[in-house]
This record gives sequence, structure tokens and C-alpha cells, in this order.
Amino acid sequence: MHLFRYRDGQLYCEDVDLARVAEKFGTPTYVYSAGTILDHYTRLDAALAPLDHLICYAAKANSNRAILKLLADAGAGFDIVSGGELFRVLAAGGDSAKCTFAGVGKSREEIEYALDQRVYSFNVESEAELDYIDRIAGAKKAHAPIALRANPDVESHTHKYISTGSHENKFGIGLDRIAAVYEQAAKMINLEIVGVQMHIGSQITEAAPFAKAIKKLAPVVRELKAKYGIKFFSTGGGMGIIYRRALESGSGQWWHDHGGEPAAFSVRDYADAVMPPLLDLNVRILVEPGRFFVGNGGVLLTRVRYVKKSGAKKFAIVDAGMNDLIRPALYHSYHEIVPVKQSITSTSKGKNKTEKIDIVGPVCESGDFFALDREMPQLHEGDLLAIMSAGAYGFVMASNYNSRPLPAEALVRGDKFGLIRKRQRWEDLVRGEVEAEW
Ligand code: LLP
Repeated sequence: MHLFRYRDGQLYCEDVDLARVAEKFGTPTYVYSAGTILDHYTRLDAALAPLDHLICYAAKANSNRAILKLLADAGAGFDIVSGGELFRVLAAGGDSAKCTFAGVGKSREEIEYALDQRVYSFNVESEAELDYIDRIAGAKKAHAPIALRANPDVESHTHKYISTGSHENKFGIGLDRIAAVYEQAAKMINLEIVGVQMHIGSQITEAAPFAKAIKKLAPVVRELKAKYGIKFFSTGGGMGIIYRRALESGSGQWWHDHGGEPAAFSVRDYADAVMPPLLDLNVRILVEPGRFFVGNGGVLLTRVRYVKKSGAKKFAIVDAGMNDLIRPALYHSYHEIVPVKQSITSTSKGKNKTEKIDIVGPVCESGDFFALDREMPQLHEGDLLAIMSAGAYGFVMASNYNSRPLPAEALVRGDKFGLIRKRQRWEDLVRGEVEAEW
């Protein structure tokens, strides 16, 4: 479920009217629902209860400290991909002993920091990286816990930019070579082999590819356990969410709502599919969901600045831009957009009058759009809109392009709401810029 609902014609997040949030903090502002995020975490945790498991939230999806703290307090570990993410996790009170450090291009500084903080595992993607970590650990007289990322070569039916489990991309080590690379790792005296990892892609809306990949890796896990006594198998993240019609559905089964898009599966479907091949492996199972926890738990509030007609076309120019939420521009991804005040959809007859319109931002790029030819209620200057399902890969991918200050972020919990990141100001844009010292 998620906790964005209309009440008396106003869009609420939990018990807070989103118009109040916009009044207090301005727009554009990301708003997250603590209840939604924790509900998703709790459901997945409960579904995986039959397994010895650890949920490592993929911090890259939304790394605001307040969000990390919510999940850390709930018991989550973290999947991190940079020294910066480790720093954030620690600042939020997260436990480094529950952190896995992934990514294909870790730097010396990052590896040293992660060793000092004693992360649970380095998830390694190449022989060159193994060698590098071994040397750095040796210089520190430390042992680096490592897992290799295996590429199971499974098609995950998702956008090509976020598919990672086939042999055609840069991630992981193919199954034909994995045993040999583990053998090499075993010879490196400053490394300790602790696990194996996989991740086949993101926004995967069927359970079958996960099960298929896990089944392919199960014999490898058994062999690694026998040979090196590995402690864990991380099955990665990638569980998909609903982007289309993310609002209309009722309680409970919201993830089964389609609207032209394949339905995202439920936690139950996922657990039912992956549990059987995992149950008798006798290693700890890690999962690394990012989007699944936070995606439907956040919206981007934006206000219509101008309505413009150009020939047969109509545009609503809003105050958020592609610099605030780049997913539509980058992946052509669909985000539901709804008015915060529902009555702006009604005519005097009480029937909703809609029209096709492009919803675009103020950035100087044709790619700066949130929706093209979208059937929307008639929009007017000043209308407040919510871009739905923006909690994952929203703020974290925002930039200062066009010298636009980064938006604010707010968190709702029950009937309370508060700022968790101040909106940037113009002064922030030039902070850190210095005169060249020739
Ligand atoms: N584990 C690894 C190794 C990953 O590379 C990723 C995501 C995750 C876990 C978490 O995946 P999730 O559960 O969130 O699907 N910016 C894109 C998504 C990029 C995902 C990158 N890796 C988007 O906006 O759709």
C-alpha cells in the first residue's frame, strides 16, 4: 500500500494535506511518507522470515539522512556504492557491519575508508579490483571481506539502461569464469572470501527472472560454501513498483494495478518465487532493494507557472524541471501526475473535463518534460501538482543544471511533517567555486 490519498478533494500524504506542505516549504519539494516506506520494509522482512536474512537497503535510491535513519532504526543494513554513501549511512546511525560495498570503480580512498569502518563485504566486479583491494588491505595489515558479483546472464525485461544481469553489460563476472576468479581470490592473502552476489537489473516487474537467476546460481553457492565456507548469498535488488495509475487503486493490492504496464509483483509473489531455491542453501540471504521501499513512498510537488498554447499543442510549464527529476527525460519513464486539489478537475456539471497537454519544466532543453500529450484535467496558473512515485531515483539524481537550486525534501509521519533538506539558495550555487591560483 501507499499512503497518498484524496480526502475531501485534497491530496493527503498520511494525515497531512499536501497543499500545507507546499505552502510552508514552497515548490518544487519532494515529500516522503515514512509510513509507506516502513510498511514496505516490514512486509519484505516478514516475507523473508523463514530465511536467515539481511535487508541491505540500496542507499542510492534515496539517500537523505532522515530516510536512511528510518530504515536503520527498523534494522536495515545498507547496500552502498561510494564512500559518500557510507559516510551518509554512518551519519544516519547505520551499522557498517551491515553494509555491503558494491560498484565497479571503487577508489583507493573509498576502499581504505570502508576497511577502516569494517564493512560486511566488498562486492567485487573484476580481477583488477580484487587485486587492488588485496594490495590496499595488505598495506593496512587488514583482511578485506569480499564477495564476487556473478552475472547469471538472465534477461530481466526492463529498460536497457537499468538491466544488468546479461553478459552484454559491464556488471559482474560470467558464470563460465566465476570459479577461476574465486580461486585467484583465495590465493590473495589479504582477502577473505565471505559471499557471492548477483543483481540482474532494476524495476523488474515479474518474479520469474529472479527465481531463474537464483536457480542458476544455487549450484555455484553450494560449491563456494563447500570450498571457502562462504557466509552469504546476496540476490540483489530490482523489485519493481507501480508507476502507472499509482494513485487510484484501493488499499492492500495496489501493486496489482496495471493500466497498460505489467503489474509489479507483491512481496508475497517475490518471496514465493525465490524462497524454494534459497531455503536449503544454508547461507545467509541478503537482498538489496532500493526503489521498492521508497519509490511509491514519495512525490514531487510542483506548481504550474504558465499555461501556453502553440498551434494545436498546449503546455503547462511547471516550476520543477528535469534537473529536479530526470527519469522522464533519461528513461522516458512514466510518472502519474495528479492535481493536489481534486476539484480543479470538475466542471459545473460535476463531470471531469480533460484535455491533452505536455507538462514541461523551465529548463532550456526539449527533453525537459514530465509528461507528453497527457490527458489531464484543465490546468491553470498556480495549480499545485503531485508527480507520483518519485521517491526513488528522484532527488538523488537531481542536479544544478541551469543554475537551479536543488529542491527541498520533506518527511511526513502521521499528522506531522518536517523539512529533511532545505531548499538550496542562490548562494549555495557558487559556494566552493574559487579563483584560480595561477
Ligand atoms: N543492487 C545493485 C548492485 C544495484 O546496482 C542496484 C541499482 C540496486 C541494488 C537497487 O536496485 P532497485 O532495487 O532500486 O531497483 N536510476 C534508475 C535506476 C538505477 C538502478 C541502479 N542499480 C532509475 O531511475 O530507474
